[in-house]
Amino acid sequence: MPVREPLILGVETSCDETAVAIVEGLEVRSSVLSSQIDAHARFGGVVPEVAARAHVEAIRPLANLALARAGVHSTDLDAIAATRGPGLAGALMVGFSFAKAFAWGLGKPFIGIDHMEGHLFAPRLEHENYRPPAVVLLASGGHSQIVHVGEWGEYRLLGSTIDDAAGEAFDKIARFMGLGFPGGPAIDRESERGDRTALHFPRALRDRPFDFSFSGLKTSVVTFLEKAKATGDVPALVDVAASVQEAIVDVLVDKTFNAVEATGVKVVAGGGGVLANRRLRERFIEEADSRSVELHLPSPALCTDNGAMIAAVASDRLSKGVVTSWDSGIIPSLRLSS
Ligand code: KG4
Ligand code: ZN
Repeated sequence: MPVREPLILGVETSCDETAVAIVEGLEVRSSVLSSQIDAHARFGGVVPEVAARAHVEAIRPLANLALARAGVHSTDLDAIAATRGPGLAGALMVGFSFAKAFAWGLGKPFIGIDHMEGHLFAPRLEHENYRPPAVVLLASGGHSQIVHVGEWGEYRLLGSTIDDAAGEAFDKIARFMGLGFPGGPAIDRESERGDRTALHFPRALRDRPFDFSFSGLKTSVVTFLEKAKATGDVPALVDVAASVQEAIVDVLVDKTFNAVEATGVKVVAGGGGVLANRRLRERFIEEADSRSVELHLPSPALCTDNGAMIAAVASDRLSKGVVTSWDSGIIPSLRLSS
């Protein structure tokens, strides 16, 4: 009988997307999500209590939908996985408890997964050649990190943000500009029609090759726009958006490739919602090409939060016989490495 790859149901509820996927080995059989953007948009950001309640409503029907789309019966599953952290406690608890109870009921193993390791694994779902050693940029709403991957499961944090995450900078600046929530996609969209050289915003922490700081950029944009409004000399919003985006993209690219050069790796990858940014992807392709380094970026839907990336890490863990104990809990401040 042919040996089949493990069938895993992955659940992700760390923030504002309820996501479930069925993955066979590293092949995505189905991936569905319910976005809470509308529920949070009127508050201008994610409200933890609203997020947790929405996960409770969405999780069971989504799990059923993921199984139906994959043509899989729950008893065929080899394991159930869920995000353990980092994330919002109430939100994590919903997916984690659901997945654990589901696994217990089926008599299958349960595996708790680090959300950031999920983002780091996401390119594996589409790029067979993505292998360590590699340098990976993880940039989302809560984190901005440059990670050296020695082996799957063996991570060294080379740099991170000392204040706001890149996605947070996009979100906060977009909110101030009146572009709504979430800010990253809005700035990405507006930038298409803007001139990225129109305005110059600061690129911080030039003296720390792998670390980021974005709070100064936010202050600089706010100060600039307030002054512009006071004098009545307000530049086109699309030019502000494109120039802000260029400032964020510049530092993300520079520092990632600083790490590529310092470590001498020949593989670079990215994960997290910010990697869906079109200008960032364009710059990554240019820089990787010019250095003859292999680049592995997930498609945009696998950059933002999804259940497939969680199931993919679980597939690796299960193949090594690693499962999570029944008395385990969520870890909202979980860290990938130190
Ligand atoms: O990974 P993710 O979906 O959730 C977290 O783990 O936080 O990332 C969400 C972040 C948000 O800050 C959002 O504004 C940003 O990713 N984002 C983008 C784009 N799409 C999502 N930022 C820039 N350009 C985009 N196209
Ligand atoms: Zn994420």
